[in-house]
Amino acid sequence: MSAAFDLVTADRLVTCDPALATAADPLGVLTPGAVLLEGGRVVFAGRVEAARAAVPAGAAITERAAPLVTPGLVDAHTHAAWVGSRHAEYALRMQGADYEAIAKAGGGIASTMRAVRAASRDEIAAELTQRLGRMVRAGVTTVEVKSGYGLDLASEEKLLEAVAQARAAAGTPRVVATYLALHALPPEAGDRGAYAAHVTQNDLPALAAAGLFAFVDAYIDRSAFSTADAAPLFRRARELGLGVRAHVGQFADVGGAELAASVGARSADHLEHLGPSGADALAAAGVRAALLPVASFTLGQAPPPVGLLRSAGVPLVVASDANPGTAPTESLPLALALAVRVYGLTVAEALLGATREAAISLGLTDVGVLVPGASADLVLWDLPHEAALVQPWGVPRARTVIGRGRVLSGSG
Ligand code: NIG
Ligand code: FE
Repeated sequence: MSAAFDLVTADRLVTCDPALATAADPLGVLTPGAVLLEGGRVVFAGRVEAARAAVPAGAAITERAAPLVTPGLVDAHTHAAWVGSRHAEYALRMQGADYEAIAKAGGGIASTMRAVRAASRDEIAAELTQRLGRMVRAGVTTVEVKSGYGLDLASEEKLLEAVAQARAAAGTPRVVATYLALHALPPEAGDRGAYAAHVTQNDLPALAAAGLFAFVDAYIDRSAFSTADAAPLFRRARELGLGVRAHVGQFADVGGAELAASVGARSADHLEHLGPSGADALAAAGVRAALLPVASFTLGQAPPPVGLLRSAGVPLVVASDANPGTAPTESLPLALALAVRVYGLTVAEALLGATREAAISLGLTDVGVLVPGASADLVLWDLPHEAALVQPWGVPRARTVIGRGRVLSGSG
């Protein structure tokens, strides 16, 4: 955008500003409302006339209007850095084959690992850049991207470098990188405990030195890694000044929530299997619960215990889990639709979980909200109301997507 100021007006401006939130209106909606943008930041959010009055006399101004404007969506859990295709495995699974059994037989994550190891950094970055562009067109301006399909030092480094390369490409969203250090046992490794120790002592410090990621993740489950495998990794990550997020309770509750809480993780993700002590531990440590409804839908699983999380007071995040196995989508709006339809979240819970709460889980306070000082990340929707966001199944309805004050998608 060339003008010094950009004024965006909306019949419904969803601010997600906690200072405006009430019990009846948790999203802090202004009807109508306006945001004024300058230099990539929000300089005013509020009433339309007050926004106009905030523009200095004689300043150049570009105006846009939409029925509905929200903060740019924040997808806090994706495995978007991958190549290859798992369509054959998907067909088998739809005929009854089991996800964990396929993994045990060398498919699943290991099959994507083979494709990633065979690909160059440029090839991975090119696919990721395309995928990130499609996410932007769905309204996403910040994306967390995990590694975890390399499963050895050189391949994980290649993946993380591809993430950095895609981040620098034009038109992509803000990217937060996560080193998914413990995802699956690679075929060349013999023993989970020894592999986890090697990753913790060797790979983590070597990769952290390059500054390629902000978070460390581990898949803690009955057919993945144990809390004993992951605990030293998480502690070392914290010593290195990195944040922690964890895959917890996707197939069984093996104590991952309590471990995530004990290391001060930013989020515990999946949580289809979680008991009261896990929920209480997350709440007490301020760990956000990242719900991934596309994954449980794809796997035909029952939802996580949303009522338990709510009553314990755990803030909810909703993310796409975009990956070639359990969540074959790139659409955060689809995850929001399923969060409401299948998990019973309110529209406000789902939308806060894909904006402000998702941002906090990534350690970001200047996205996911439309308040003065925030980054100018917002979406002009071709929809009449925020409740309509969870209805158009799978069809992008973002008219204009603005990231850091620049039009990333749609009419400029
Ligand atoms: O979040 N469960 C572990 N990781 C991913 C799936 C990865 C894959 O199947 O490629 C998940 O569901
Ligand atoms: Fe995941």
